[in-house]
Amino acid sequence: MDSETFFVDLPKVELHAHLNGSLSPATMLQLKRYHADSGLEDKTNAFFDEFQIGAGDSRNLTDCFQVFSIAHSLTSTPETLALATSLTLQEFQDDGCCYLELRSTPRDTPQMSKLQYIETLVQAIQKSSLHLTMITRLIVSINRRSPLEEAEQIADLAIEYYKKYPDVIVGIELSGDPMAGVFQEFVPALSKAKEAGLKVTLHCGEVCNPEEVMAMLKFKPDRIGHGICIHPKYGGTEETWSTLCKLKIPVEVCLTSNVNTKSVPDYDSHHFKLLYDAEIPVIICTDDKGVFATSLSREYQICVNTFSLTSYQTARLALNACQYVFADNVRKTLNDKLLNFIDKNSL
Ligand code: IMP
Ligand code: ZN
Repeated sequence: MDSETFFVDLPKVELHAHLNGSLSPATMLQLKRYHADSGLEDKTNAFFDEFQIGAGDSRNLTDCFQVFSIAHSLTSTPETLALATSLTLQEFQDDGCCYLELRSTPRDTPQMSKLQYIETLVQAIQKSSLHLTMITRLIVSINRRSPLEEAEQIADLAIEYYKKYPDVIVGIELSGDPMAGVFQEFVPALSKAKEAGLKVTLHCGEVCNPEEVMAMLKFKPDRIGHGICIHPKYGGTEETWSTLCKLKIPVEVCLTSNVNTKSVPDYDSHHFKLLYDAEIPVIICTDDKGVFATSLSREYQICVNTFSLTSYQTARLALNACQYVFADNVRKTLNDKLLNFIDKNSL
């Protein structure tokens, strides 16, 4: 299947997209212009080459995490953060995305507090919903490098904002350099959010660490991101794999991100196939569409072409993804949209 239009037209749900990794070159250019026009300091030079990580790039996984500071320098005020959000939401919609769970790590900058960071994102999402058909929700991120007090502070903010804006905030997640931090130490903060009603997703098994993977699976998150080093063939153990097979926790799969960070050698050997064949729910996602120069429609196309899926299987993949959205009250609407597309295209 090659038709690019089919993959754009297919209504898709995006469940794993980091805001600052999703900024396209066009969005970054607009943010740079905004900086220049408002006399704000702009520390980014030649950022396209530094920001994008393509296939064959020599940077290692830890180097990859440094690129986010380029985006961060362009989203450090409420105005630029709001602009980055609205431009990015528009791009996801233009790519045929009908539901997006955007995630981002609240941070203090000289111009804004973490609280203002979340407030700005919520306002930008609400404002965009007035002219977009795509439904957007927010997942609050905790970075694995955060000291525990900061993680607790972010969890408290997420809970406070979830109570204030239950129609926008839906979850909390743990991400950042997988070599940094210890998962168990974040459990109290994550549990508190879970008990308050927030859904939880964890970046899990990005690097070989079976003990951590077991602890994460036992925590029973609502979804996990990546899920690479879980099968024994990919750096997991019999125990990690059988536990995932038993629990059937949905996995947010990010093919290009995994190939470009060299977490998997190439598309053909991506663990998507193992998960799919084991009937573990998989959701195709972008991770960082700006950093990895991709889009959700492109990720579907790569997956379908690599693993020779039929149009029917492709549509089922998109339909099944709707079952795992964190916003329970929109699941039926998304389901109906997909069923309508399947029916109209006789898939
Ligand atoms: P932000 O949270 O909107 O600032 O988006 C960028 C952040 O997302 C990075 O600083 C990382 O903490 C996190 N992130 C992006 N991609 C990945 C990934 O593949 N693994 C783990 N963390 C990631
Ligand atoms: Zn991620």
